[in-house]
Amino acid sequence: MADERLIVALDFHSLEDAKALVEKLGDTVSWYKVGMELYYSVGSEIVTWLREQGKHVFLDLKLHDIPNTVGEGLCSLMGIGADIVNVHAGGGYTMMRRAGEMVRAEAKKRGIKPPKIIAVTVLTSINEEDWQGLGQTVPIRSAVLRFAKLTQKAGLDGVVASPQEASLIREACGEDFLIITPGVRPAGSSADDQSRIATPARALQAGASQLVIGRPIRCAADPQVAAEAILKEMETCK
Ligand code: C5P
Repeated sequence: MADERLIVALDFHSLEDAKALVEKLGDTVSWYKVGMELYYSVGSEIVTWLREQGKHVFLDLKLHDIPNTVGEGLCSLMGIGADIVNVHAGGGYTMMRRAGEMVRAEAKKRGIKPPKIIAVTVLTSINEEDWQGLGQTVPIRSAVLRFAKLTQKAGLDGVVASPQEASLIREACGEDFLIITPGVRPAGSSADDQSRIATPARALQAGASQLVIGRPIRCAADPQVAAEAILKEMETCK
């Protein structure tokens, strides 16, 4: 059985390209992330198709708006069956709490299990210079921790954060809190536009629940070989 801790990011513009990677990876991978690039191009069809293939889906649309709009937006997404959806923690406590309440109420009305809702803390591409450019004066780590605690207080299920902050969050928010980390790079591979990165093993050792990996698999000469090498490294951290 595939290791459920690996989520492969389907950052493509077309349904054909996305399906081709999923078919190439076969039983090796059971979780996929659909982000704005693919969703804005092809809509919900990709999520429906992945569910039909027996795959789990993290729908990464990072909603960020006023509480009612985010709550209604998430309710609109519920019909397509993603396992995890997300918002930006920067939308604030009230937005996150309201989003959670509205999704749970809608799920009850429809008689379905609500998706897990997680919040993006600080994007893994943000470095200290970008951060200071935003006028922020606290270190990124402190801000991430603050966002994670706020997310938990608002009743959401977890966060998206860098592997470099995972141990801090795990310690503060406990074992049941989901910590999903992008910014994962096998040793020796390109960082691309990511800044706060770690290897798959380091991310898991730091307390990540699941890893989102895109380019190191998608752009590899042989994605299957790349995924298997990552899974082998992950196996050392059970
Ligand atoms: O290709 P790469 O492994 O960098 O892909 C990482 C994926 O995770 C991308 O789809 C990106 O949108 C997403 N992501 C991220 N940082 C966050 C949240 C999501 O890189 N904080």
